[in-house]
Amino acid sequence: MSMNNSEWKPKIVAFCCNWCSYAGADLAGSSRLAYPADVKIIRVPCSCRVNPMFILRAFQKGADGVILCGCHPGDCHYSTGNYYARRRMTTLFSMLDFLGVEKNRTHVEWVSAAEGVKFSATMNKFIEQVRELGPNVRLEDIRCKQN
Ligand code: FES
Repeated sequence: MSMNNSEWKPKIVAFCCNWCSYAGADLAGSSRLAYPADVKIIRVPCSCRVNPMFILRAFQKGADGVILCGCHPGDCHYSTGNYYARRRMTTLFSMLDFLGVEKNRTHVEWVSAAEGVKFSATMNKFIEQVRELGPNVRLEDIRCKQN
């Protein structure tokens, strides 16, 4: 990477389920807990709504890291959605690893509506993890690049 690593800000996409994680993000915001504005939150009804293609698409469109947040196991609003999401993501992440996309560019975390502090800490930790890897170039589709 040519630029100074400390100046570079990774682009992060965070898929958050409506019932827990999105509310946790909201709480982090209203409690004025810091996490960088570069985290683009996409609200989904449940973590299982996230098709693996959404993750690949985010990388193609230039995301440097993609995180999926949902309700804690046993707390999913739709009862078992997060179990499906976890299984699906485990498979996808191992495939990404096979394709040469570092596994630290992806993460799954359970965050409840009351865990604003955890949401903020998770985002800050994930950003640091992605920053260490530098920009994602493996899956980026240059046709999606905005100049
Ligand atoms: Fe939150 Fe299913 S509603 S993970």
